Amino acid sequence: MNYTVVLPAAGSGKRMKADRNKLLLELSGKPIFIYTLEVFDRDPNCEGMWLAVKDGERQLIEEYVERYEIKKVKGYAIGGAERQDSVRAGLEMAGPCEVVLVHDAARPFISPSVITELVEQANQSGAAIAGVPVKDTIKKVQGGLITETVDRSSLWMIQTPQAFRYELLLQAAQLAQAEAFLGTDEAMLVERTGHPVQVVESTYENVKMTTPDDLIYGQAILASRLQEEQS
Ligand code: CTP
Ligand code: MG
Repeated sequence: MNYTVVLPAAGSGKRMKADRNKLLLELSGKPIFIYTLEVFDRDPNCEGMWLAVKDGERQLIEEYVERYEIKKVKGYAIGGAERQDSVRAGLEMAGPCEVVLVHDAARPFISPSVITELVEQANQSGAAIAGVPVKDTIKKVQGGLITETVDRSSLWMIQTPQAFRYELLLQAAQLAQAEAFLGTDEAMLVERTGHPVQVVESTYENVKMTTPDDLIYGQAILASRLQEEQS
């Protein structure tokens, strides 16, 4: 099943505390977002990528896309103040297709088999998102005191990709915009329309490069993949 992917890349990476957009930081000499684009470039089911970027970074990002010979980037939308605005801009520019994926440019270690599973599920049921079961005990804390220990068995950490039938996500995104609802992921926008959302088990490696320690983990993932290739 073919799909189109929208990649929000218009953030500023404040929590990374770097001197530029964290996506431009390098792991083993290559910018983070290039690893992400390479996964989709190599996937035969991916029909095209649409990037949401900051106006002032578009040229630089285009240069990297050319230098690393990424073939499937179809266009660039100008991102907005919130991630949700960037995703909506990317969706509108991508235009109608059957299944659309939204994937953070800041998650370079997504597994191709998880992408395939998400696309199949979204094609069948309309909406499917990646996640992993939480590993730690989770408690609600107020003023330094525990108010509740949440039952861990039903808790999942949600990631991207998030896959949808295009019309379902576009309408949910436009409704959220009209009602000034701000969600933290695409699924939230679809959930509030009443449409069920499937969760597909992903991998713990699909971490979002968010804080400086994530870069250390990212380097370790690359090193272990290189070792596997050589053995
Ligand atoms: N993003 C975007 N537009 C925004 C904010 C974020 O396209 N207005 C993108 C980021 O570039 C990233 C993805 O959404 O690929 C996930 O967001 P996050 O990890 O929060 O990145 P930043 O917003 O850049 O980081 P921070 O929140 O630390 O500033
Ligand atoms: Mg952010």
